[in-house]
Amino acid sequence: NIWRHQSSVHVQEKLLKQTLDIRQVKIVSGDADSDRLQNYELGLQVSQYLNKKLDRGHHTLAITGGTTMLDIAKNMQESLANGRDFTVVAARGGLGDQLAAQANTISDILAQRLHGRNMVLYTPEKLSQETYRLLLMEPSIQQTLQELKRANILLFSVGDAKIMAERREVDLDEAELIAKAGAVGEAFGCFFDADGKIVYRMPRIGFQIEDLASVAHPILVAGGSSKAKAIAAFAKLAPKQLVLITDHGAANQVLNGE
Ligand code: G3H
Repeated sequence: NIWRHQSSVHVQEKLLKQTLDIRQVKIVSGDADSDRLQNYELGLQVSQYLNKKLDRGHHTLAITGGTTMLDIAKNMQESLANGRDFTVVAARGGLGDQLAAQANTISDILAQRLHGRNMVLYTPEKLSQETYRLLLMEPSIQQTLQELKRANILLFSVGDAKIMAERREVDLDEAELIAKAGAVGEAFGCFFDADGKIVYRMPRIGFQIEDLASVAHPILVAGGSSKAKAIAAFAKLAPKQLVLITDHGAANQVLNGE
């Protein structure tokens, strides 16, 4: 019966929130590993959550890349824009992802859905120290970085360390270091172990993991049992205002190791 199902989801959300010691948890049905279509539900939950929390007026929303964020951007409810004015900012430059799943592409899709303004961050992922220093002085990059500092909402995902090391095309030495250090997850170019300790950091321009602390609404959207370890570990290093929107596949795995 539907009521019983709803109440058991509620119990599980509360339990997961307590286990991870974060602000709020929402769980949708299914497992993203076997059914990416359910990312529609994740998008709906993100929209509903923000609709409840955000005042009317202006908001700066930062968004990262990846397939989850792409689905979230596509499925964001346009009604969220009613009475609100959004600046959407790409939280990072080009990463080893396909063009469709890069932060710049995704922020543009989201800005259109929210009838807002889009700010891009065009920087290559791997940079020499010298280029890094010069790029940081570039006015258009400075402007985007300043706006990122003003973000009151951040939408992002985490990934399994091994999968992300491959996707980010780290070289062999880095991959070995990451594996030896026992990394289980990655977010914002940082690989972390099961205790939430950062064991490897890829130098990059954009939103840094430390910036999370000053974001009022950091929303981690991650589904699928393969992301369970990364989610649990990330919660240990994240600030307490973290909100997790996930699915049963990941939630069951975190809670019961199922
Ligand atoms: O840092 C993590 C990745 O952005 C996650 O990517 O949504 O394609 O799994 P994904």
